[in-house]
Amino acid sequence: MSDSSSSTPTPAPHQRRPRYRGRNPRRFEEKYKEHDPQRYAETVAKVLASGKTPAGTHRPIMVAEILEVLAPQPGQVAADCTLGYGGHAQAMLARLQPGGKLLGLDTDPIELPKTEARVRALGFGPEIFSAHRSNFAGLRQILAAAELTGADVILADLGVSSMQIDDPARGFSVKLAGPLDMRMNPQRGQPSSAFLGKISSDKLATLLVENADEPHAAVLAPALAGKVFATTTALAAAIRAALPRLNQEDGGLAIRRVFQALRIAVNDEFSALDTFLRNLPACLNPGGRVAILTFHSGEDRRVKKAFAGGLHDGLYAEIAHEVIRPTAEERNSNPRSAPAKLRWARRAA
Ligand SMILES: C[S@@+](CC[C@H](N)C(=O)[O-])C[C@H]1O[C@@H](n2cnc3c(N)ncnc32)[C@H](O)[C@@H]1O
Repeated sequence: MSDSSSSTPTPAPHQRRPRYRGRNPRRFEEKYKEHDPQRYAETVAKVLASGKTPAGTHRPIMVAEILEVLAPQPGQVAADCTLGYGGHAQAMLARLQPGGKLLGLDTDPIELPKTEARVRALGFGPEIFSAHRSNFAGLRQILAAAELTGADVILADLGVSSMQIDDPARGFSVKLAGPLDMRMNPQRGQPSSAFLGKISSDKLATLLVENADEPHAAVLAPALAGKVFATTTALAAAIRAALPRLNQEDGGLAIRRVFQALRIAVNDEFSALDTFLRNLPACLNPGGRVAILTFHSGEDRRVKKAFAGGLHDGLYAEIAHEVIRPTAEERNSNPRSAPAKLRWARRAA
């Protein structure tokens, strides 16, 4: 028996060549230069000029109009019930100084710490700004825990943020493939895929009409109810397949409406809004003001009715009788602002 080990050199252990990662980054966080706005200021400016929102950010809507109706003053207490990226909060914080404070609420545990860090980095310490991971239905409890009897200024900018929509992993995007989730707080409730997999056709038809005024609900409901779609794009494809006569644009609108209806359902958005509206007068100091930005008729109807009821009952001294809309300039420069409607109310003194 020969021993070849002494005569032949030991081969070097095989090392896998690092896998070629491609010229384009794959992960959302790596994909856009806008995630590093300081380094890529020029890219961010170009994205803004094209009417788009830089990835990982949110452009606050109707800031001037909101500041005008809320009129935050130095020393006052404000609650931003939908903190998001913190754009409205920053504008209000500047007006509340010196001596004022702002409580920022958001149900999203992923974006909230990032926003808190961003606002802190601007120099707003804990005595001026506090961030609360909470549904705005719980505003009353948040105020009580902060030993406040009420707020002078309250803002709610309903719906989802651009950070949530643009991150495919959150499952809100109709264009980018991601898990069919759509929860603003992924630690609670069930993802849209599970919700759709269990719902009956009759219930889904009702929900599509109530949550999104869907004209094709009778056709879509039996095609989608009880089916399991793992990804956003699989659901979008099934909606198009169920409505083969629709052109590209109308098919796209149907997809958006179905996504909206599911998002409202899995996040229980209407019941949170109803609770918030019911508790609002008790959360406002005498003479305090509230402004609410809505993005579809189901939200606006509720706000309009609650404000009118509060005026009738003497809880509000004054309310907006007409909605305020974004200017044509804002709609052009930020198309996501287009459906926005602003209503306000002032608590009786
Ligand atoms: C349109 S964005 C707000 C953007 C924000 N005004 C800004 O300037 O960046 C809506 C935010 O409200 C949050 N949100 C939606 N429903 C909520 C609820 N019921 N309670 C608390 N936060 C909610 C979402 O997670 C999202 O971050």
